[in-house]
Amino acid sequence: MNLPREFAEPLDRVAGVLAPLAARVVWHAETGSTNADMAALAEAGAPEGCIVIADAQTAGRGRMGRSWSSPPGAGIYASVLFRPSPSVARMLTLATGVAVADAIDVSTGIAPVLKWPNDVYLGGGPTSGRKVAGILAEAGVSGRETWVVVGFGINVLPVVLPRELAARATSLEGELGRSVDRGELLATCLCHLAARYEDLRRGRSRAVTDAWRYRASATFGKPVEWDENGAVQSGVVRDLDDEGALIVDTPGGVARLVSGELRWM
Ligand code: BTN
Repeated sequence: MNLPREFAEPLDRVAGVLAPLAARVVWHAETGSTNADMAALAEAGAPEGCIVIADAQTAGRGRMGRSWSSPPGAGIYASVLFRPSPSVARMLTLATGVAVADAIDVSTGIAPVLKWPNDVYLGGGPTSGRKVAGILAEAGVSGRETWVVVGFGINVLPVVLPRELAARATSLEGELGRSVDRGELLATCLCHLAARYEDLRRGRSRAVTDAWRYRASATFGKPVEWDENGAVQSGVVRDLDDEGALIVDTPGGVARLVSGELRWM
C-alpha cells in the first residue's frame, strides 16, 4: 500500500540526509507489530535502513513483554532495520532514545527527559512526569550477520487508556493543547536517528552518551530500585558510562546496570 501524503511528503523533503535510513519504506494501515514485520523482512534479506510504518498496531510490543497501545492515527509506530557491528549494536537503543527526545524537542518545544535505558518522559522526570514514547530493540542473526530492529512508538494524540496506564502515560497533543504533524515529527526523528547512527559508526559514541546524559540529568541523584537474582536492590543514580551502562551508588558499592528496568521512588 502507498505511503499516505501525510508521511510521504515530509520524508521526501529530508530524503537527502536520511541515508542509509529509509532506503525502503513499508506502510501498513494496520498491522500486528511493525517490529515483527521488520524482523520478518530482516530474515528475508531486507536492506539496512528499511523502515516499516503503521497507522495502527493490533499487537504492538513494549519492553519486558508488555504491550504498546497503538490505536489508529493516534501515534507514530515505526521500526527501522540496522545491520550494525557489535559495538554499534550495543548503543543503538540509547541513540534512538536521544534521537526521539531531540526530535520531540525540536518539533514541539517541549524538552523530554530520558529514563534509562530509553523511556521518553514529559513534565519532569520519571517520578513526576508521564511517558510519551518508548523504544524496543530486537535482534536476530541470519547467516553470519546480526540484524537489529529498533522500533519506536510516540503517543501523539490523547486516547482513552486503561486506568493503570492513564496515570503514567501522556501524549504530545495532550501536553501542548494543539495539533502535531505526525509526518513532520517522524521525518525529524529519522533525521536525528540517521545522524546518531553516523556518530556511532564513526566511533563518536561519546557524542551519544553526552546527549543522553543531558536529557537524563533530571534523573541523576534520584533513588531507584530494581530486581536482581530474586532480591530487590536499591541505590542512587549517579551517571551513565561510555558504554551506555547506568552507574548506581548502592549501600554495598557501585552497581553497573546493563539491562533491565528500574523503579523510581
Ligand atoms: C516500551 O515499552 O517503552 C517500548 C515501546 C515500543 C513501541 C514501538 S511502536 C513501533 C514498534 N513496534 C512494536 O511492536 N513496538 C515498537
